[in-house]
Amino acid sequence: MQKLLEDLVKNNIEITKKGNVANYIPELDKARKDALGICIIDNDENLYFAGDYEEKFTIQSISKIITLMLAIMDNGEEYVFSKVGMEPSGDPFNSIKKLETSSNKPFNPMINAGAIAVASMIKGKDAKEKINRILDFTRLITEDDSIDINYKIYCGENETGNKNRGMAYYLKNDGIIEGNVEEALEVYFKQCSINANTYNLAKLGLFLANDGKTAKKEQIIAPKIAKIVKSLMITCGSYDMSGEVAVRVGLPCKSGVGGGIVSLVPNRFGIGVFGPSLDTKGNSIGGIAMLEGLSSELSLSIF
Ligand code: DON
Repeated sequence: MQKLLEDLVKNNIEITKKGNVANYIPELDKARKDALGICIIDNDENLYFAGDYEEKFTIQSISKIITLMLAIMDNGEEYVFSKVGMEPSGDPFNSIKKLETSSNKPFNPMINAGAIAVASMIKGKDAKEKINRILDFTRLITEDDSIDINYKIYCGENETGNKNRGMAYYLKNDGIIEGNVEEALEVYFKQCSINANTYNLAKLGLFLANDGKTAKKEQIIAPKIAKIVKSLMITCGSYDMSGEVAVRVGLPCKSGVGGGIVSLVPNRFGIGVFGPSLDTKGNSIGGIAMLEGLSSELSLSIF
């Protein structure tokens, strides 16, 4: 396995040159274009890694699966999905288009509109308490107490997030967001700015692979919630490339514009990959290529 991961990194460095680092937030633009890393943890806590597996990056949209789990625990499945749908939108992650042209419900919790609605459902007396609950939950899942926010990225999110702000006020107008809009946005921008590495993502993947059990075999969410999240990762986790990722990789995946992707093999592996060079849909170009190679080499597709 170790040799396979080293080969995957080596063989996919070239493909990262075909992508681009996200630059709509100035701080994200500073990432090294050819960085590439992977980490896998299995159920016996064997650890395999290669490349820039230890490098920290912001988890961005990967946070959407963490807040979805917490929002369902806080409010129940019925309430959450009365406000946000379960269908792939087929549109880019930041699209506003369907909010007006179909039902006022965001299509799913993985696109920005849906994730901002989910952020508004996290319980807490103010934004600080809400984000602290998200951080504590992330620390518990990843078994890493050092998980924290990258404040430079958060400031960039806040300064450049005008489209997100527009969507949030739209959602408030339609009754999808019930609480304070600025608070929901602060929570959303901060959850996107959580720093992690591929080891942390592999732990998150393993947690879902084991239906909500940590690596120490502690059950901390209902298995049903993990099943919901994994289903939405397959259908919506790579936005308007989710179908292609299902064909090429065949595993639940959730990407972020920081270059991370969390993936998993049910009951077997948690997988974290990192490569900040993105394809045109906002997914790590080298990351998807490494996952495709891994899945093909070890026949991991769940299909
Ligand atoms: O909403 C945004 O602009 C980002 N901070 C999060 C987007 C993201 O990671 C989308 N995914 N690939």
